[in-house]
Amino acid sequence: MTLLVITTSDRGTEFAEAARHHAAGLDVRLWPDVGNPADIHAALAWLPPKGVLAMLPNLKLMVSVGAGVDHLLSDPGLPDVPLVRYVDPDLTGRMAEYVGLQVLFHQRRMAEFIELQRQSRWEYLPEPAANEVRVGIMGLGVMGRAAIDVLRPFGFQLRGWSRTPKAIDGVACFAGTGDLDTFLAETDILVCLLPATPDTRGLLDARLLAGLSRTGRSARLPGPVLINAGRGSLQVEADILGALNEQTLYAASLDVFEVEPLPQASPLWRHPRVVVTPHNAAESTADAIARYFIRQVRDMAEGRPLENLVDRSRGY
Ligand code: NAP
Ligand code: GLV
Repeated sequence: MTLLVITTSDRGTEFAEAARHHAAGLDVRLWPDVGNPADIHAALAWLPPKGVLAMLPNLKLMVSVGAGVDHLLSDPGLPDVPLVRYVDPDLTGRMAEYVGLQVLFHQRRMAEFIELQRQSRWEYLPEPAANEVRVGIMGLGVMGRAAIDVLRPFGFQLRGWSRTPKAIDGVACFAGTGDLDTFLAETDILVCLLPATPDTRGLLDARLLAGLSRTGRSARLPGPVLINAGRGSLQVEADILGALNEQTLYAASLDVFEVEPLPQASPLWRHPRVVVTPHNAAESTADAIARYFIRQVRDMAEGRPLENLVDRSRGY
């Protein structure tokens, strides 16, 4: 059994070394040193160059380094072999930390307190209690449910939106485009944990932002907040900046961007009420990723069912 690690990111060596560590006896190669393409049976991929996976005639399994698989499905030549996405407590726990941190940051108006500190100003700002704030989670999959679990103990009023209907204890659940406006109108802090698919592209636009919290904002939160750790293709950055500047939106935390790395010229870098992070909301360790990859490879080799298979017709 020969394995290939394939990525255009700078983490390839790290992934390959971790895979060798967990795959005693298996040959692990790192693209572009593929050797004979016919040797390769399984690939661990993150942002692979397009067309290269199609050149591996004996490929039986592809494992995505990310929970999101848009980086693979955007390859028109992607081989028709099982595609498994990454689902692991290491990744999920990190996303829960990110969402908890960003929601509390904005609920407690920290962007303004940091600005006041810079000016050596001792001033109180009214802050809502968590139980006065409605947090709406877009995407009720692995990440969305982890976000709910981390927010629940604080007492936030929780709402969720997904493609198909869900029932989650203590969460008002909405589904499909028909429910979207109602969901938005009841949301003060919107947390986007959706995958990038043709249906979600450009969803976070001016129309959507204008629909937030229409039925009555929390008295002490100056306006709605957007947190996006899904994918950059979901957001229209010009609309987000427009909404921030006209105060339809109070603040934003963005981990993902239309173009990554975020270009230096983007005003998002410098906006006083925007938190920018470099697509690291949930950046898993090479060790956890390699362990997961090798477990999938062994499951396939020993005829066990594969976990977390991607449904290509849904796009996630
Ligand atoms: P998942 O378990 O597949 O869940 C996806 C959720 O999105 C599901 O609830 C699904 O609805 C919903 N959804 C998909 N398309 C929709 C649509 N058109 N309308 C409404 N809801 C829709 O995925 P996950 O593991 O939670 O990960 C979600 C995404 O997070 C990934 O795809 C990735 O882009 C992003 N992510 C980012 C980072 C980071 O570091 N920034 C890290 C990990 C993941 P159903 O339940 O009805 O199917
Ligand atoms: C990271 O962005 C992931 O999809 O896991």
